[in-house]
Amino acid sequence: MLNQLLLYCRSGFENECAAEAMAKAEAVGLAGFVKAKPRQGWVLLNLYQQDGALPLQQQPFNQWIFARQWVACLPLLNQLPVTDRITPIVDAVKQLPLCGTVQIETPDTNEGKSVQSLTRKISAPLIQALKKAGCLTNKENSQKPTLHVFFISGTSVLVGISPANNHSPWTMGIPRLRLPKQAPSRATLKLEEAWHTFIPKPQWDQQLAPEMTAVDLGAAPGGWTWQLVRRGIKVYAVDNGPMAEDIMATGLVEHVRADGFTYQPKQAVDWLVCDIVDKPARVTAMVSRWLTQGWCKATIFNLKLPMKQRWQAVVQAKAALMDALQQANLSYQIQIRQLYHDREEVTVYIGP
Ligand SMILES: C[S@@+](CC[C@H](N)C(=O)[O-])C[C@H]1O[C@@H](n2cnc3c(N)ncnc32)[C@H](O)[C@@H]1O
Repeated sequence: MLNQLLLYCRSGFENECAAEAMAKAEAVGLAGFVKAKPRQGWVLLNLYQQDGALPLQQQPFNQWIFARQWVACLPLLNQLPVTDRITPIVDAVKQLPLCGTVQIETPDTNEGKSVQSLTRKISAPLIQALKKAGCLTNKENSQKPTLHVFFISGTSVLVGISPANNHSPWTMGIPRLRLPKQAPSRATLKLEEAWHTFIPKPQWDQQLAPEMTAVDLGAAPGGWTWQLVRRGIKVYAVDNGPMAEDIMATGLVEHVRADGFTYQPKQAVDWLVCDIVDKPARVTAMVSRWLTQGWCKATIFNLKLPMKQRWQAVVQAKAALMDALQQANLSYQIQIRQLYHDREEVTVYIGP
């Protein structure tokens, strides 16, 4: 019944998400094929095994790179009657386990946006009907699966589930972050989203604590530095370009005009962050040096992907990082994710 795994992704990255889905299926010994159309913002992994999506969802979701959300789903509900979409949706959902919450979603594309007035309208009556049919708990329950109702169009819907505590907690897999007025650049949201993605909120006070130190490579004009300073962290901002004046006035930032690839800290720091636009191989070699030399305890950095073979580039970068850590006998966790605020790039976290 749940033979399909629906994956949401950034529009334009369907091939990468498809390649990733096939690799994940193969890794757990499942065979199947992917249906992915360019720029639709989602792909569908079809597995030959009965309920094949479920063993995949027992693996950690945080190890996926290009998927923003995963949904083990039922066959497509097509040609829904425009006079009553709710009844066939509820009838389908009755086949699924009891869910603790529901997310009513669309692809993150212009077509998806055009369905959002419908999803807004249908949301309250659909939830009420799902509760009445016993498909949803009356009170939100985060220990039960999340139900996803994914409107591809006004008449085509995929319904399915994602497991409690092993999925993206955000609707459409997109955190809603507001650009802080004082931040020097929009890039600030990338680091904030990275923290929300990689560091569980209860650990923020410990992992992003005042009095910590950080090096920000490619820091100008200072969006990432601004996030660190906001947490009370002292920052060495390495860039030949100018830093925003406000941020320098905090007294927590030292601007170092130097090349980020050859810069060495005088003392080890807690965090290395890096947003330099350069070849992934050059960035991973530099970060590996920082970790193996013990110059930082944790790192968040971006890998830019202007090339054609983006999936292969990310796989190679991850392998190179794991290799370097293994050779140095270091046991860190690595997570890589294409964040919502990332464009042609992915963000890497390596930490305890
Ligand atoms: C995408 S911007 C960084 C934006 C920054 N993270 C923010 O939030 O405002 C990239 C920066 O990397 C700097 N850069 C490029 N090559 C560099 C290098 N080899 N060393 C240090 N900085 C470099 C550029 O001057 C530019 O300011």
